[in-house]
Amino acid sequence: MTNQWSKKQEAWSARFNEPMSELVKRYTASVFFDKRLAEFDIQGSLAHATMLAECKVISPEDLASIQKGMQQILAEIQGGQFEWQLDLEDVHLNIERRLTDLIGDAGKRLHTGRSRNDQVATDIRLFLRHEVDRIQSLLKGLIAALLGVAEQHHATVMPGFTHLQVAQPVTFGHHLLAYAEMFERDLERMQDCRKRINRMPLGAAALAGTTFPINRNRTCELLGFEAPTRNSLDSVSDRDFAIEFCAAASLVMMHISRLSEELIVWMSPRFAFIDLPDRFCTGSSIMPQKKNPDVPELARGKTGRVYGHLTGLLTLMKGQPLAYNKDNQEDKEPLFDTVDTLVDTLTIFAEMVEGIRVKPENMKRATLEGYATATDLADALVKRGMPFRDAHEAVARAVRYCDEHACGLEALTVQQLQEALHLGELGYSDDLVDSTLLAVLTLEGSLNARNHIGGTNPQQVLAAVHASRQRLDLKA
Ligand code: ARG
Repeated sequence: MTNQWSKKQEAWSARFNEPMSELVKRYTASVFFDKRLAEFDIQGSLAHATMLAECKVISPEDLASIQKGMQQILAEIQGGQFEWQLDLEDVHLNIERRLTDLIGDAGKRLHTGRSRNDQVATDIRLFLRHEVDRIQSLLKGLIAALLGVAEQHHATVMPGFTHLQVAQPVTFGHHLLAYAEMFERDLERMQDCRKRINRMPLGAAALAGTTFPINRNRTCELLGFEAPTRNSLDSVSDRDFAIEFCAAASLVMMHISRLSEELIVWMSPRFAFIDLPDRFCTGSSIMPQKKNPDVPELARGKTGRVYGHLTGLLTLMKGQPLAYNKDNQEDKEPLFDTVDTLVDTLTIFAEMVEGIRVKPENMKRATLEGYATATDLADALVKRGMPFRDAHEAVARAVRYCDEHACGLEALTVQQLQEALHLGELGYSDDLVDSTLLAVLTLEGSLNARNHIGGTNPQQVLAAVHASRQRLDLKA
């Protein structure tokens, strides 16, 4: 028995008759991952102690000792000398015990009117607020990179796809701006989620509030939160804000994954639309010719783990009665991993997007091969009086004609186009076709014609780049 059970019962003591096994200790402890919250835990404790002193719950001398002790503890943690103890279960008890070792009774008074339940809720909110701010600026960095390449390629023609079949000509700049839109929505979601993160739970204590004459507005002000949380039970058990963040993060990763898929396809020699800098790719251990787009592939893969964390957190919460339950300790690792995955991915992608090397001649060739201006031709016939359904049918015949003659629409002469459209069979005169009709078949003609807000006309693309920069306060 004795070697199976630890002798010391460190954290909560007298009520317990038998010590915990090492395994149970390890199973219930969180210190090895929640020590990451240390700086926020100290920040929260200092605000709590300041409020307690102002409300005369602890003395000014106690506050001064707590401040001094915490300063030393912070230095020890930052310097890597702090000794984290499994026996002390989590970041909160580790720091509190060290404080008491350093300053005595004043350290034992810090936990007056507080519980680890409102303490940990506060720590996570402080942590996540900090990280959401960082993620917002990384999203802006990625958008800025997309805008830069889009501006440079505002007139570079590429095939726009539906069903991954060539559909209509677009510009590469326009295509990238679609991603800029996605990431701008992500930015909005992060800003919105921050509002609900930015609430102050301290004072809820274990679940029912405290008998001490505290001032929650003051603690709130000291920590820069927007307002105290309104219900003590909800304060200690709410993790909606973490789930919302993971949902917003999942959307970011979904967008990253779609972009990755495109980069991978575009980089394939079958497409050869772009090249990625070597530093984002790897070779093969057996095939010497290979250059693989590992970074986008890995990002596509990591999207799965972020979705997993969202599902994990939703499942973590679904069966919990009010108020705090130990289940909640499981909120941290998924949250930390989501933050880390997002931060690394966004940082790398901003740099990688800037390094995209575009191959305009291949993009143009692919556009010409795909009858991308067929809709333009149908639209032009409509403008000459033909109902759209008939125009659609005529152009379909012209495409078949081109297939049989192995040429593109733009290569046809007036006479060939008349023949190809089979206008007589559909009851129309060949006079509908003249040389001005051929002009709409050029890629440039097609692009220029889409000249409205949100269109792919190169001037519209430039205008969209500038408007984005203005909205987000980004420099050119
Ligand atoms: N380590 C705990 C957590 O992360 C802190 C709160 C513990 N509260 C409790 N009543 N056991 O959730």
